[in-house]
Order: sequence, then structure tokens, then C-alpha cells
Amino acid sequence: MSNLNKILKNKNLCKSVWFMRQAGRYLPEFRKIRNENKNFVELCLNSEISSEISLQPIKRFDLDSAIIFSDILMVPYALGQEVTFIKNKSPKLSEFNFKKFRNNNEKEFSKKLDPVYKAINITRKRLDIKKSLISFVGAPWTLLIYMLDLKKDNNKINTSKLNKNKLLIDQILNDLTQYLRLHIKNQINAGADVVQIFDSWSGLIPNENLTKFSYSPNSELVKFCKTYNVPSICFPKGLKENYETFNNLVKPDGINLDYEIDPLWAKKKLKDVVIQGGMDPKVLYKSSIKIHREATKYIQAFKDTPYIFNLGHGLLPETDPDKVDKLIKFYRNF
Ligand code: CP3
Repeated sequence: MSNLNKILKNKNLCKSVWFMRQAGRYLPEFRKIRNENKNFVELCLNSEISSEISLQPIKRFDLDSAIIFSDILMVPYALGQEVTFIKNKSPKLSEFNFKKFRNNNEKEFSKKLDPVYKAINITRKRLDIKKSLISFVGAPWTLLIYMLDLKKDNNKINTSKLNKNKLLIDQILNDLTQYLRLHIKNQINAGADVVQIFDSWSGLIPNENLTKFSYSPNSELVKFCKTYNVPSICFPKGLKENYETFNNLVKPDGINLDYEIDPLWAKKKLKDVVIQGGMDPKVLYKSSIKIHREATKYIQAFKDTPYIFNLGHGLLPETDPDKVDKLIKFYRNF
């Protein structure tokens, strides 16, 4: 059994380290492949290259876990929306069409994403047995934000659009959750050891809708993973003090802190869960002394509890890989 899996199952076992977006633009070896593959969706659908990218940070840093190279927006892609990634801009999706969306079926969906499952399968075979292979999905709310273009800017949603389409949105969320279950199942069957559920925009959910848009759909996905005996890690980014309610209601095996959460608060309030991450990825732009000081805050806070070292969001493209290397060594020597 891989390390992360053991930690999540048996909470006394050794600690581990990996990073969100560890396979990405801050690595020159990724940028080289990316320059040769202009179409990001096609890149995600190339099982061989996707596997190679997933293993790049493992080769370079010997991290404890690999995360499969794909994107949360591959699900809307498989459900018929065109997805384009433009450099330094938010990804763009073609206009959502409810009729077309409802016309999807599970067989076609799985077939479209088959290259992702193949990538998981070959990566699991190439990865050291002691290391975990993490698969992931976007939570329904976060996918909805992109699918319906609900974001006004990084801090606001278009509430009138949300309220105007209430009934429609209930139906979309419902269907979407079913496809996400299928995507999780397919990834587990392909060899994934752990499932991370990214709810990157849960901070934008109006308070009165938290149950409907966050707690319920995340619970359903966590429960689904439990039926396969595969641990899940939730990342309800931006929930602030509602992280506590989230943890009590959703009961994931692991929870990823974002950089706004105070680690000491989390230690007190988040019970019966393995905590992961928390440190602001921007800290990696600072001097080694400052990086070590900040990392110490997290390592100290969680030294007596199972803790997976990671960040409070993904590694940023301008991060110096040498600083990542030094941080991993600092953590391991601590
Ligand atoms: O290393 C890994 O973490 C595995 C691969 C991975 C990617 N995206 C590759 C990627 C994972 C787990 C994701 C998750 C993802 N994608 C999330 C949830 C986590 C988060 O960051 O909040 C979200 C919201 C997306 C949607 C998305 N994909 C955005 C907003 C963007 C553009 C801006 C950005 O953050 O990079 C992407 C593109 C993307 N996904 C890149 C990579 C390596 C960069 C693409 C490029 O090279 O142009």
C-alpha cells in the first residue's frame, strides 16, 4: 500500500509531501513539452505524455505522491463544451446548452475520457509502489462556475444569473454529480489510490446556499469514494470558519487547508481528519529564511498529528524549482 494511503487509513503512520500543481509551468521540462503541444486539451488526452508529465516532479524531487496530469475542466469537455486555455487568462468554455447537456450519456462520457484513464493506468505501473497516485475531480459548484460562466471577477459571482436559473441549476448539479461519480469510479478502476476533490471557488457560495452547493455535493462524492475504500481529500477553498462545518458534515478522509486558514485554529477545530497543506504558495517567492520560517509554522502546528505537507493552493508558474527542492529537504530534515 502506498504511503499516503496508509496515512489516510491509519492515522499514526509516517508523513508525506506533495504539491498541488507540482506538474506544471514552473518546471522547465513541462514548459518544453507544453511549447510543443499548443492545445492543452489534446495534451491532457495524450496518455503517454500526460503520464510523462505526471512523473516529472517525482523524478526531479522524489515526492511521495504523484498527481495525474489532467484538468478539472476535462469533465465539461467530455460533456460537450469546448474548452480553451489561453495563456495568463481564465479558461474559456463555449456557451452552455442545456438540451445538449442533457443529451449526454455515460458510455460516451467514459469513452471521451478514456485517454485519462489510460494515463492513470500506465503511470500507476511506472510509479514506485510505495508512492500514491492521486486522481482528482472538480466539485460540482466549481465546475458550474466555469460551465455557466458565473464569475464576475475573482471575488464575485453573477448572482442574478444564478437566481434566474435556479431550477435549471439544480438539474445540472444533479446530473454533473452523477458524471463525477462515474469519473471517480473510472479513475479508481484505472489504478488511482486517492481522490482529491477541488472546490476552488467554494468561497463564492452565498451563505444560505452552502448546504446545497458545497456540503451536499461534496458529501455525496466523499461517500462514493468510501464505497470503494479509496480515501478522498477535500479542498473547499475560501470557506473560512465554515471549514469546521464542512469537515463535520462531509467527513472526508483528508482536508486541504487554504492559505487563509490559521493552522492552530485548524488543529483545534478540524477533528477526525488528516490535514494537508496550508502554506501560501507566494511564500516561495521569498528568501529561504522566510520560506523556512513559514513552513515551520505548519510543521510545528501539526507535529503530533498526521499531516501531509502541501500548500494552500497550487504552485505558481513563476516559482523557482530550486526553492521547491530546498523546501522539500527542509521539511524532510525537520
Ligand atoms: O500538477 C497538478 O496539480 C495536476 C494537474 C492539474 C492541472 N489543473 C493542470 C493544469 C490539476 C489538479 C488542475 C486542477 C484545476 N484546474 C483546478 C483546481 C485547483 C486550483 O488550481 O484551484 C482548477 C480551478 C482548474 C482550472 C484551470 N486549469 C485554470 C483556472 C487554468 C489556467 C490558470 C492556471 O491556474 O494555470 C488551468 C490550466 C492548467 N491546468 C495548467 C496546468 C498545468 C496550465 C496550462 C498551461 O500550461 O497553459
